[in-house]
Amino acid sequence: MTDIADILDRMEYGPAPEGPGIAQDWLARHADGFGHFIAGRFADPGGLFDVTNPATGDVLARVTQGTTEDVDAAVRAARAAQPGWAKLPGHERARHLYALARHIQQHARLLAVLETLDNGKPIRESRDIDLPLVVRHFYHHAGWAAVLEDEFPAHTPHGVCGQIIPWNFPLLMLAWKVAPALAAGNTVVLKPAEYTPLTALAFAQIAQECGLPKGVLNIVTGDGATGAGLVAHPGVDKIAFTGSTAVGREIRRTTAGSGKALTLELGGKSPFIVFADADLDAAVEGVVDGVWFNQGEVCCAGTRILVAEAVAERFEARLRARLEHLRTGDPLDKCTDVGAIVHPVQLDRIRTLVGQGLTEGAELVQGTAPAEGCFYPPTLVTGVHPASVLAQEEIFGPVVTLTPFRTPDDAVALANNTRYGLAASVWSESVNLALECATRVRAGVVWINGANLFDAGAPFGGMRESGFGREGGRTGLTAYLRSPAPTDKRKPVAAPPAPDPLPDAGAGYGNGVDRTAKLYIGGRQVRPDGGYSYPVAGVKARAGLAGLGNRKDIRSAVEAAHKASAWAAQTGHARAQVLYYMAENLSARAPEFAARLQGMGQSAARARAEVDHAVRRIFWYAAQADKLDGGVHSTTAKHLTLTLREPLGVVGIACPVASPLLGLISLVLPAVAMGNRVVAVPSQTAPLAATDLYQVFDTSDLPGGVINIVTGAREELTRTLAEHDDVDAMWYVGTADGARMVEAASAGNLKQTWTEAEGARDWTGTHGRGRDFLLRATQIKTVWLPYGE
Ligand code: NAI
Ligand code: MG
Repeated sequence: MTDIADILDRMEYGPAPEGPGIAQDWLARHADGFGHFIAGRFADPGGLFDVTNPATGDVLARVTQGTTEDVDAAVRAARAAQPGWAKLPGHERARHLYALARHIQQHARLLAVLETLDNGKPIRESRDIDLPLVVRHFYHHAGWAAVLEDEFPAHTPHGVCGQIIPWNFPLLMLAWKVAPALAAGNTVVLKPAEYTPLTALAFAQIAQECGLPKGVLNIVTGDGATGAGLVAHPGVDKIAFTGSTAVGREIRRTTAGSGKALTLELGGKSPFIVFADADLDAAVEGVVDGVWFNQGEVCCAGTRILVAEAVAERFEARLRARLEHLRTGDPLDKCTDVGAIVHPVQLDRIRTLVGQGLTEGAELVQGTAPAEGCFYPPTLVTGVHPASVLAQEEIFGPVVTLTPFRTPDDAVALANNTRYGLAASVWSESVNLALECATRVRAGVVWINGANLFDAGAPFGGMRESGFGREGGRTGLTAYLRSPAPTDKRKPVAAPPAPDPLPDAGAGYGNGVDRTAKLYIGGRQVRPDGGYSYPVAGVKARAGLAGLGNRKDIRSAVEAAHKASAWAAQTGHARAQVLYYMAENLSARAPEFAARLQGMGQSAARARAEVDHAVRRIFWYAAQADKLDGGVHSTTAKHLTLTLREPLGVVGIACPVASPLLGLISLVLPAVAMGNRVVAVPSQTAPLAATDLYQVFDTSDLPGGVINIVTGAREELTRTLAEHDDVDAMWYVGTADGARMVEAASAGNLKQTWTEAEGARDWTGTHGRGRDFLLRATQIKTVWLPYGE
């Protein structure tokens, strides 16, 4: 008999396997293969491909590769069902979502085992993390369906949503997509990932069992080609995608100009910052939850540990000891910490990236993993340069780098040295230090003294190349709703022809009538780089000359805007003071501005009204500068889950041709009120009201670089802004072609875009301003702050 003392000494576990029987029986009933789930029934299987268990290599099932016709049938079914689904009273939709939640709970064991078989994640995680979060998501959104009409008056669903999800949290990502879409009155065509389609098919069966109306949920299986077909389908009104940044970029390009709403939840390379005063043992456990959880196949995994030099050695020693005790192996074993990598292709990708890291001088500390099967040992990497591949590329495996830092400023700089901005973990016993760091790290989610915490009530999503849009809570729901649209639908206006360049002889400046208006960059009036100007038409003679800006001017303006980042750190109150001053100064010069507008062709009455509206609008945004608050959300016990509304950064704004003063003010003011810096391209044909504003800015204490103005050919200047990697968002009012160009060009750094047809909005009416503008000018950062001992 084994001696108890001996067991305690060795501290080894015996195997504790979960029985796969329940899932195997279910799979055996579908041995002929799975067809798509369309219009409430499973279609006949056809064009089958194998779905495997990565831990063993066994084929689990065969599913259908979706064709263009399949996607089309699913979209048609969703379209047919949508009006009826949206018309159901919220209470009725809520009952359906509630039934889904109940039935998922009843089938929780089947779903957890199936998930583990298909994906390779440890059963402990699918059972104790994925499934409870899935259930919570459906309950939470059943609630939203019930209160939708009261909470979102006048909002409407998009219609048919195309949803594409990855393989790392197959059922959880389905829940994140399907629950809010259905709650809001949309219908869905969902494509699960080709490596892990099985729980989605089981979910379809559950929906059938619950009596979800036909066509409300459709599931089409297949690979990237099926996904691309769904993205391109003209019958889809909104695309929601979670997956790699590369595919997200492609989707942004494909949907450009289509009018489809888009949310992208993409990759990450999230920092895990350990300050010198952190509870080191807790931080070590945080790494286990942060990157070794789900084999590191987590978009928000804390894959870059940054640790204060003073404690780096101690921390590393403890982390190594912990790593050696992690158990990698059979995912069905309840004692397993790290399961199988989803697919041999992914295993290859991890090995290739780590191999590249080794050639760059990285050093590895590795735990153990079974030699057979699709396993990769938990890995700690030291000696990486911040620019090296292992510090920059998303690996999506159980691999974490460790880099020491000296000061909190260094930590923030290293943390932000990435194209991504999904999540961050911050470890410190000082709430001041932790919160200060949380506000400075560029990430959509920040966990203080924690990692990978999720809840249906807390917005989740990224900044920068991690995508845009949020999932969870009220904000997540807005991604599935259209806010009330402008009512004034006038005929779209054609793009102004490119201006005629006139050589801008230096002597031309300041000589009477034809004084050339300059550009405004970094708080100074500057001549256009190319030395050209262009004529601005007036009532009888020309109204004047404006500088003809070029790419170089745009680049200088973007640089100036970046330098003015202190504006974002000012309080709303301080920003409001500048804006009030601006309104006052414009008001004092109202007759002069009205005359200018009249000179460019407006009637006296309209010109006066436009200036008056502009003054009021500035006051309105001054008033709003300190009013758009974040919130505190009800989530996991013992956490204050805060949302902060942060500016986007540098926003490019291409203004409408008509309403040359009010159009610009209506777009630029909400952006700067929220702390953004702006590069604006004013009305091409009537830019002189905008250039007259320079003096108003100068006399209003507006810091240089907060508003930059480059006059010239709108489409050309817009393209440079939309392609610029240091521009964080692009707003464009103009033509359909211009909108397509902006959306396609934005794919480079995945900047957020807002495009609208010129003439769609009456700038003098109630749609000319509003909370919507402020929401668009900000992005949410969710901060999880624990309390209690
Ligand atoms: P992926 O981005 O190709 O796959 C995600 C989903 O998109 C799958 O359902 C796939 O079928 C679909 N898809 C692929 N190409 C598409 C296209 N052109 N149009 C529409 N849908 C398309 O990710 P993949 O190749 O499986 O993994 C590659 C890398 O991507 C991973 O190593 C990881 O770094 C990253 N990744 C990130 C995820 C995240 O949640 N941030 C999730 C999955 C992968
Ligand atoms: Mg699989």
